[in-house]
Amino acid sequence: MGRTIATFLLCLAAWTCAAADSRGVDYGKEIQPLLAERCYSCHGPEKQKGGLRLDRKMDALHGGDNGKAIIPGKSSESLLIKNVSGENADTVMPPKGERLSTKQIAMLRQWIDAGAVWPDELAATARNSKDHWAFKVPSRSAIPHVRNKSWVRNSIDNFILSRLEKERIRPSPEADKLTLIRRLSFDLLGLPPTPEEVQRFIEDARPDAYERLVDRLLRSPHFGERWARHWLDIARYADSDGYEKDGIRPFAYLYKDWVIEAINNDLPIDEFSIEQIAGDLLPGATLPQKTATGFHRQTLTNKEGGIDQEEFRCKATVDRASTTAAAWLGLTVGCAECHSHKYDPITQREFYQFYAFFNHASEKDIYVAKRRRGGTISGCKKQVGWRRREDQGRTRFVPD
Ligand code: HEC
Ligand code: HEC
Repeated sequence: MGRTIATFLLCLAAWTCAAADSRGVDYGKEIQPLLAERCYSCHGPEKQKGGLRLDRKMDALHGGDNGKAIIPGKSSESLLIKNVSGENADTVMPPKGERLSTKQIAMLRQWIDAGAVWPDELAATARNSKDHWAFKVPSRSAIPHVRNKSWVRNSIDNFILSRLEKERIRPSPEADKLTLIRRLSFDLLGLPPTPEEVQRFIEDARPDAYERLVDRLLRSPHFGERWARHWLDIARYADSDGYEKDGIRPFAYLYKDWVIEAINNDLPIDEFSIEQIAGDLLPGATLPQKTATGFHRQTLTNKEGGIDQEEFRCKATVDRASTTAAAWLGLTVGCAECHSHKYDPITQREFYQFYAFFNHASEKDIYVAKRRRGGTISGCKKQVGWRRREDQGRTRFVPD
């Protein structure tokens, strides 16, 4: 009988149950604003009372000190409902101020019973995600209109000219050929042109002389050397181990050469990424694909006597996770190594979920045969790494 009355009252408060049911509850329109207004002050970025954070999907669904607070499909078993409804008399939520209305509680119940649908694009509070450039899908900008159409040679010019026109600035005149070839050579190769190259370009009267020059420079092996430098900085490439001993890594250049060749061969960005992240796991991985994973071997390595090997293995694994994120995810995750931050979309828990991928990889050295100058082929071994060893039920990593 008590239950019937409760249901009856609930329906009255929600106007009509049938209408509410068929409509479903929209997390973004109805649930998030309610939680933001009544719960975030204690369960949000600033405070997580009872270990519960409700503004982020992952934390909210994970629950608080007493486990899951939201059990999708089962509102009556969900701690959140027990607390807001007063069923848990000791921990009524919110603990101060006005209680939630019957209608609001019904809405929360309905949302949970329908599976607690929480769209991924609202996984974090708006301040964390939607507005940040790193989380926006790249989209092609519309080409701006310009008045002086005859000045435009390709659509990049539209962007430059439309701004110049807006500022009422006239474009500079085209540079002379000597300036052009110097600029192009430094931009594309990082090297000055030789006097003969300058002469040849100045004397080349063909209408597409400039395009031909660009093509010639793009074909130069120095193009890859010049542009690999930027990637190698991101990949924290070094010829030596770092730390106090700073031992030489005689074969580190093999990875550097892979990057240079990848750029010179115009390797598409997806293959460029896959081969460096996990080239060794590709079916029938080729030697160059395995060499690409040298990306992960660029961490500092400590081989001093008396060091705690496990400590430096963990440090290297942290570095691997952080660098992989910085290079590919468009955001840094390194700050979450030690603690979560109020407005950082990556939590410490997520950092170690990502870390776990690398934590299970042992550093295996591979033999690589490289054609040396003069045509001889020599076998060589990559730098010393770590090997996994099972020891009394525990996994340990020992130097190779
Ligand atoms: C003024 C601060 C405050 C507000 C606002 C507040 N809570 Fe709480 N909440 C707490 C505190 C404190 C605890 C820990 C209670 C305890 O352990 O006795 C808690 C615990 C909880 C728990 C249990 C977590 C666990 O695992 O132990 C849930 C669920 C919860 N709150 C839900 C809510 C919801 C939903 C709202 C908004 C409708 C809300 N709270 C608003 C302070 C607040
Ligand atoms: C190696 C571990 C570690 C890393 C990495 C780390 N922190 Fe911290 N952070 C700490 C520790 C420990 C404290 C607490 C220091 C104290 O209370 O004296 C702290 C405190 C803070 C505080 C102060 C918090 C407060 O409530 O007073 C801020 C802000 C902060 N860190 C931001 C960052 C940022 C941003 C990054 C990344 C650039 C970062 N942390 C990376 C360990 C780390």
